[in-house]
Amino acid sequence: MQTELRKVKKLNIVIVENFDQMSEHAANMLRNQILTKPDSVLGLATGSTPLGVYRLLAEYHEMGLDFSEITTFNLDEYIGLAADHPASYRYYMEENLFSKVNAAKKNIHIPNGMAPDLEKECERYELSIQNAGGIDIQILGIGTNGHIGFNEPGTEFGTTTHVVDLTESTINDNARFFESRDDVPTQAISMGIKSIMKARNIVLMANGESKADAIVQAVKGPVTTDLPASVLQLHPSVTFVVDKAAASKL
Ligand code: F6R
Repeated sequence: MQTELRKVKKLNIVIVENFDQMSEHAANMLRNQILTKPDSVLGLATGSTPLGVYRLLAEYHEMGLDFSEITTFNLDEYIGLAADHPASYRYYMEENLFSKVNAAKKNIHIPNGMAPDLEKECERYELSIQNAGGIDIQILGIGTNGHIGFNEPGTEFGTTTHVVDLTESTINDNARFFESRDDVPTQAISMGIKSIMKARNIVLMANGESKADAIVQAVKGPVTTDLPASVLQLHPSVTFVVDKAAASKL
């Protein structure tokens, strides 16, 4: 596998050829984490970017990788979608990972977008991350507008798990997962920037040309709330795993 390593500020940047190599690199980081610490706490993302990682983790499980002591926390969930809605993140996680590995149900955490009191749900979620001892390794994708989780441009860096209004750009980007654009929820619960920054290690993945602008700004631009992923420049242990197209402006 041909990779190119660059160190910009404190960021490790791994540039690979394509989606498959990106997935393999990130999946290996997760596998190493699980092998080193079988009761690791994993921070997980949804969307198109981590699909290859989950496919590989399922394969590694078939080959013996044990998830029985693993705890997981997902970054986010839409508000108003029930767990059995095919576009809900709980459904996505069940389909793509949890039905294929032996993680214990009680150790799987996803914000409840149907909670009657959303503020309480945010507090409960943040507290459960703390009670689990914090996240060992957090997987992130990146929005074309630079969001991480659903922390849209303008989100304060001090935010913990919170209710967010999705931007037009995110609604448009995610409309592909729904029958029509009008079906995309306009709000979500998301871990905040501070919640994400508390993770001991972070792996941000990106592939495709549509992410090139967000990647160059996240890595080389100023640290600004206008581009939420730029905050990662301040984290002590971040790896960007990006394919050539997403790295094309670096
Ligand atoms: C998903 C999430 C989002 C996505 C981002 C990229 O849980 O938090 O930040 O990672 O929107 O989405 P894809 O991978 O579909 O391009």
